[in-house]
Amino acid sequence: MGRVTASAPGKCILFGEHAVVYGEPAVAVAIEQRISVTLESVQTGETPWKIDGMHFDSRKHPHVQALRNRLWQTSQGAPGITIQVNGDIPPASGLGSSAALSVAASAALRCARGRWYTSVDDLQNPATWAEGYASSIENLDVYTPENRELSSQQSKSSMEHYVHGKEVASLDECALLAHAVEAVAQAGRASPMDASTCAHGGVVLLSDAMEKDVEYLYTRRLKMEDGERTWHLHSVHMPNTTEDLYLVIGNTGVYAPTSNQVAKVAAAIAAKPERIREIQTIGVIARRGIQALKEGDFEAVGRAMSENQIMLQGLGVSCPELESLIRAAAPTSLGAKLTGAGGGGCMVALTRHPKQTSEAIELAGGRTLISKFGNAGLTVDECENMPLWSTGRE
Ligand code: PMV
Repeated sequence: MGRVTASAPGKCILFGEHAVVYGEPAVAVAIEQRISVTLESVQTGETPWKIDGMHFDSRKHPHVQALRNRLWQTSQGAPGITIQVNGDIPPASGLGSSAALSVAASAALRCARGRWYTSVDDLQNPATWAEGYASSIENLDVYTPENRELSSQQSKSSMEHYVHGKEVASLDECALLAHAVEAVAQAGRASPMDASTCAHGGVVLLSDAMEKDVEYLYTRRLKMEDGERTWHLHSVHMPNTTEDLYLVIGNTGVYAPTSNQVAKVAAAIAAKPERIREIQTIGVIARRGIQALKEGDFEAVGRAMSENQIMLQGLGVSCPELESLIRAAAPTSLGAKLTGAGGGGCMVALTRHPKQTSEAIELAGGRTLISKFGNAGLTVDECENMPLWSTGRE
C-alpha cells in the first residue's frame, strides 16, 4: 500500500515581533518540536478522505481543505486518502503548528501525486516544472481560485516527464502553499514568516527591505483588504557553534489573540505618533541580534533578546504572567523575551543550562518545551509505493 510521511518543525520569534508589522526585520528560528503528516491510500470501498481515523470535516481542517483544493482535487479524479497527523507542537500557542502542518501536508501531497516536468535535469528548478507553484514563476498568484493549478507560464502541452516520490518535494513550493493556505484559514491575513521558517528550518529573516549579508530566499506578496503587502525572506547562516545552546519555551497558558495585540500597538501609535521610535528601536536591536547570530556571539544574541523584551514591555504587549516566567529564566539564561504576539502565549529563553532554566520557568507556573538551537526544516521521512494519484497526461 502507498504511504508517505513528511514532517516540519514549529518556530518561535527571536526578534522583531510587532515591529515587523511596521516594516522592521523579524527573525524566527525553527524549533525541535515537529508535526508529521502521513498519507496512505484508502482500501477500495472505504470512505474517501479520513483524518486521524475520522471522516474528514473541512471546517475542522481549513488548512488541509485549502491544500486539497490546490493539490488533490476530487473534481480532477484525485482518489481518497487517509491522513494521520502526529506531533509535539502545542496548537494555538504562537509556535507555528498550523504552518508546520501545512508545510508537511503539502510536501506529502506533492510526493504522492508527483509532478510533470519539461526536463528532468534539475527537479528543484521551477523553470523545468510543467505544474506547481514557485516564487520564481512570474504572475503567479496562488491566492486566487482562478490560478489553482497551472501558472500562466506553465502549459500542459509541455508535459514531458512524470516523476513522483521524495525528490519532487520543493521547499519553495511547500512554503508558498503553506503561506497561501494560512491566508485562506486566517481570513486573508498572514505573514509568510511561519510558513517559510517551518519549510526551510534554521533561522529565517523577514523584512520589508532586502537585507544585506544574509542569503536572500525569495519575495512574497499578498493582497489584503487594505492593500498589497510585500515581504523579502532570507536565511541567516550561523557558524557551527550551537551544540550546547538551547531554547526553552515557557507557555503562560493565557490566551491572547494576535489580532488584539496588533490592534493594541496600532492604537498606541495612533494616539502618540512619536512612539514609532520604539518600533524603530526594536528594528535596531533586531539588526544587532542578527549580526551577533552570524558571528556566533550568543552572549550578544541573548542581550539583544532581553533588550527587545524591554521595548515590547514598553509597548504594552507583555503581561504579568510573561514577566514572571522571563524573570524566572533570567539567572540561568543568556536572554529571555516574549515570543509572538504577547499578552499571554509564550516566552523564550536562550540558555546553555536548559534543565535549570526549564525548572525555574515551571516553578514560576509555565509549561516548558526544550529545543536545541538550529533545527532542520521540512523532511520527507518515508515514501513507499508512490504515486497515490497519477495525474496522467491529458
Ligand atoms: O504569535 P505569532 O507567532 O503569530 O506572531 C505574531 C507576530 C506579530 O508581529 C505580532 C504579528 C505579525 O503579523 O507579524
